[in-house]
Amino acid sequence: MSEKLIDVIDNAGLVRLTINRPKALNALNSDVLAELEHVLADLEGRADLRAMVITGAGEKSFVAGADIAEMREKTPEQARDFARQALDTFKRLETLPVPTVALVNGFCLGGGCELALACDWAVASDNAIFGQPEVLLGVIPGFGGTQRLPRRVGPAMAIDLCTTGRKIDANEALRIGLVNRVMPQAELEDYVEELAKQLGGNGPQSVRAAKQAIHDGMDQDLDSALALENALFAFCFAGEEQSEGMSAFVEKRKPNF
Ligand code: CAA
Repeated sequence: MSEKLIDVIDNAGLVRLTINRPKALNALNSDVLAELEHVLADLEGRADLRAMVITGAGEKSFVAGADIAEMREKTPEQARDFARQALDTFKRLETLPVPTVALVNGFCLGGGCELALACDWAVASDNAIFGQPEVLLGVIPGFGGTQRLPRRVGPAMAIDLCTTGRKIDANEALRIGLVNRVMPQAELEDYVEELAKQLGGNGPQSVRAAKQAIHDGMDQDLDSALALENALFAFCFAGEEQSEGMSAFVEKRKPNF
């Protein structure tokens, strides 16, 4: 397995991953997925981790999908295993305990869109293109798109995108709630760097608790989810962070988290 398909930069707990296959528009093959899973497994237990950004190398593409050349000859069993590898890896990404940001710098198609959907944030350049074009290839989204897309944008728009295979621009992606922000391409890097710093500068325990409450609560009925929020709210008062945050407010100074 190549060790060069995912570049990792670690800046004091603000981690940036770059999928590095620009000649194939960063398409996800088995090697990329295996390396991504390996990197994520290393990150998930790190107490100093504050935020993670994931992007694709080059100026043209975030990720243009699963690797079509690799998938072309697969049997149903091999296809199931390939997609299972991606589902497991994206689950790891989704459940990373800190905020994750997809920095979408171009094509964000098929498995690329599904990768962005497994992140908490998606920030796109104004020339980014999104879509689930699998039906144009005779398949359906296999890396979680049929499930995470309707949860993000609603079933009507998910059916539209998954059954037409049409591509949408960044502004439509913003309008339907697929992405959080759209930026001119020249400003995208600086914006995401500032965003990561902002996320990393907030109370790390409370940021993790907010993510956990939203993610875990979404899969529960409202009463159970509110009980979860209540438990996590109380948990925030068990550490030093709440005392520092509230003392800083009262003392009219910045908190030191
Ligand atoms: N898999 C493998 N290789 C890919 C790829 C993919 N998904 N997307 C692009 N590439 C490769 C191309 O084959 C090409 O390689 P060569 O130079 O060796 O020919 C290289 O990247 C550059 O691509 P293009 O020449 O096609 O670039 P373009 O600017 O003309 O078009 C594009 C860009 C519109 C994104 C086009 O490449 C494209 O349509 N790509 C496929 C998009 C797609 O269908 N994605 C979904 C894949 S299926 C999936 O993801 C299923 C799932 O859920 C698991």
